[in-house]
This record gives sequence, C-alpha cells and structure tokens, in this order.
Amino acid sequence: MTQFNDTELTVAVIESLAKTPDPRVKFLLQELVKSLHDYVRKTDLSFDEWHYAIDFLTRTGQKCSPIRQEFILLSDVLGVSMLVDAVNHREREGATETTVLGPFYVGEHPPMPHGADISPGLQGERMFVQSRVTDLAGKPLAGVPIDVWHADDDGFYDSQKASYATEGPSSRARLVTDADGRIFFRTILPCSYPIPTDGPVGEMIVKTQRHPMRPAHVHFLVDAPGYEPLITHVFIGGDKYLDSDVVFGVKDELIATVEPRSDATMPDGQPANGPWHLMTYNFRMKPGQGSAPQPMMPEKEEA
Ligand SMILES: [Fe+2]
Repeated sequence: MTQFNDTELTVAVIESLAKTPDPRVKFLLQELVKSLHDYVRKTDLSFDEWHYAIDFLTRTGQKCSPIRQEFILLSDVLGVSMLVDAVNHREREGATETTVLGPFYVGEHPPMPHGADISPGLQGERMFVQSRVTDLAGKPLAGVPIDVWHADDDGFYDSQKASYATEGPSSRARLVTDADGRIFFRTILPCSYPIPTDGPVGEMIVKTQRHPMRPAHVHFLVDAPGYEPLITHVFIGGDKYLDSDVVFGVKDELIATVEPRSDATMPDGQPANGPWHLMTYNFRMKPGQGSAPQPMMPEKEEA
C-alpha cells in the first residue's frame, strides 16, 4: 500500500486524472481537486464539518424537483452564478448587460400575441412593457423569441404556488419580435421578493444573518439566431434592495425607470382602465453563438 502525506495526496489524485481523454475535462477536474484540497488544508476541516457539508449538499439535491432548482439557488447566493456570467461576458461591446438566469426558468412559456395580458386575474398595479431588439448598430431583429417571467404582487413565481399544477403558468410567456424588432405586453408590477427560505439554501441565508431579498425585476431571455443568447433582468428603479440583492445580480445599466402613468390609453391605443406603469427597455444583441438554456419542465403523467 502506498502512503501519502497531505500534499502528496493532491499530486496523486491529480495524476490519477492524467489520462482523461478530453483535455478540457481533464483540466476542470484537476483544478477542482486542487481547489478542494486547498480548502480542506486551509480550514483543517473537521469530520463534523465534512459530514455537515455532505448532508447540506445531499439536502440541496433532494430539494430539487422538475420545477425547483435548489442548486442554482445555491450557486446564485454564493455569487458563483454571477462570476460565471462575468468571466463569460468580459467584453459586451455595447451589447445589453447580462445577469443570472435564476432558479425559476421552468415550465411552459406560452406563446402570447403582442399586447396580451400575461398576468390575467392577478392582483397588482398594472404595467405596460415595451421593448425593441436590435443588433449593435441599431438594426431591428425580427422574429426573435423572447421569454419573459416575473414574480407576482406577493413576491411569488407561478411555479411556487400550488395552483400551478391546475392553472398553469402566469406572469410567464413567450413573445416574438415584429418586423421592427418590437414586443409589447401587459402585466402587473412585480415586487421585490425573498428567495425560497424553506430549503437548505434559505437555511444558510438565515443562519448567516443575510436577508433573502431580491429587488423587483422582470426576467428576459432573448434568443436570436446568429447572436449570443441574452439572459438578463430589467430591474424596477427605486427598489430598496437594489444595493443588496441576495444573488449579487444587479448591474446599473439594467435598472429601468418605470413611470407611473394616468393616460386613458396605453401605448398600443387600448384602454388603460385606471392608473398604470410604463416599462420601456431595449435590448442590443452581441453577434455570436451559443445555446440558450431550456426551461426545466414538470414531469408529465404517463398516459
Ligand atoms: Fe427573479
């Protein structure tokens, strides 16, 4: 039997991966081993702490479901998601800034026509959203699918509510840009919300005395062929959590002035039926490739 001291052990594990055929996989695994071993050495990790970590990760996995992603949440609150975003988008060259996908890109994003109300029947202040998608030179991009999703007036996504199974999606839709690169729709003004605190990630947030809040925002995923998929949010200006987002996802450029309006009609000429808000935000796409993530889908019952 060969014996290793703690440094020789790291060298031995790295060497054990030397024949990994894919060079990138080999590099990722060897660097992971180095970082993990460094962490254990630096912290003198105890058996109790190691067991706690194993149990925490086990519970994180067990909390995942077809419409809940606790691991993405963990990545988000530890800043890993924003770091991956940062290293992959160092040069935006005038393109719209990106931010985290978040754990709620799930389920159906039903196709909706321009002007549709994507939150019918929901309580909340009304909002009209208008947007235009262009390339970096301002040329409109037509026929581009845009997925939108946001929380409701109580701070919950549709998929967090029991009614999702019977009533399906709300505040969640797919729109396609017209010949001028535009989309527009009605919805409600989302509010700031806590990330889910009923799982191990929420438990960590509470125990570390952080607040669990995210500033109010609407998610957008713009997927134009020939351009890098744009995963971003538009934040509601003035929100009190803009400076302390629990997932570190705010970028100044993504904060929109959402104007209170009292005009009798909305920009598409249809009646407003009361006070409303206007969100206007345009997206500039960076040429490139890449595949957009697909929403996690609930498991369908076997027929
Ligand atoms: Fe969100």
